[in-house]
Amino acid sequence: MEIIQTVQQLQQLQNRFKKLNIGFVPTMGALHDGHISLIKQAREQNDVVVVSIFVNPTQFLEGEDLETYPKKMEADSKICELCNVDYLFAPEISTMYSGDEVLIKAPNIRGYTLEGVKRPGHFDGMLQIVLKLLNLVQPTNAYFGKKDAQQLSLIKLMVDNFFLNVNIVECEIVREEDGLAMSSRNVYLSKDERIDALSISKSLKYAAKQIGSGELDCEVLINSMREIMNKIDIEYVAITNRKFEKIEKIELGNSMILVAAQVGTTRLIDNIWI
Ligand code: PAF
Repeated sequence: MEIIQTVQQLQQLQNRFKKLNIGFVPTMGALHDGHISLIKQAREQNDVVVVSIFVNPTQFLEGEDLETYPKKMEADSKICELCNVDYLFAPEISTMYSGDEVLIKAPNIRGYTLEGVKRPGHFDGMLQIVLKLLNLVQPTNAYFGKKDAQQLSLIKLMVDNFFLNVNIVECEIVREEDGLAMSSRNVYLSKDERIDALSISKSLKYAAKQIGSGELDCEVLINSMREIMNKIDIEYVAITNRKFEKIEKIELGNSMILVAAQVGTTRLIDNIWI
């Protein structure tokens, strides 16, 4: 595996791999099994695999955890090596940003609901860096997890709107054995908080079961989920269609149940696609 830090090094790869499929997994590091499953999928489906590690400052809001965001470069690069990654792109901030830049703005509706309400501007910064990375790596396939469902949906929209020549691969959520969705932020949870955090995946599982038994009324489903999560600070429980529009009745094959909650000082999100 080669670690590359400059745009020039990355651009040289384009010439070398013109006729090959490039699979790309963008990350902010602190790699866990969720990332590993994306990398494995990229490895299976492409000739060349590029992973990026870049804690993107523009997608963190004032007061968020940019400074304390877990950084584990050494461990991460070992993981990438073990997963047979070909290139690890780990640029400096000054490589990716020059100062007074052309900005990207998330769409007014889909970008400013749910996550966009609590984190206004987050998706602008996320799209900005993803666009830069896609332009630099020029992958055939780029891999994103369904856990960040709104991020995934906005990236797909950007690819459509800007006619980007890349296939976005939607990857399943990877969970701990007890159901907690994998996240780099799970390391912040104390032992007791981790137990409380399980109520998120439990409530989603319960809702899926209720839907399986024929309950399609979103208010009923949300109320029972809220009861299960009564020990944690729920930010939202929402049921939407795949365009993130709130719905009243579950539309099988076109619905999502999304949760954001604060457990201690840690903000967690999770969802299921119905
Ligand atoms: O999901 C993430 O880790 C980040 O939002 C991404 C897509 C790497 C952009 O910084």
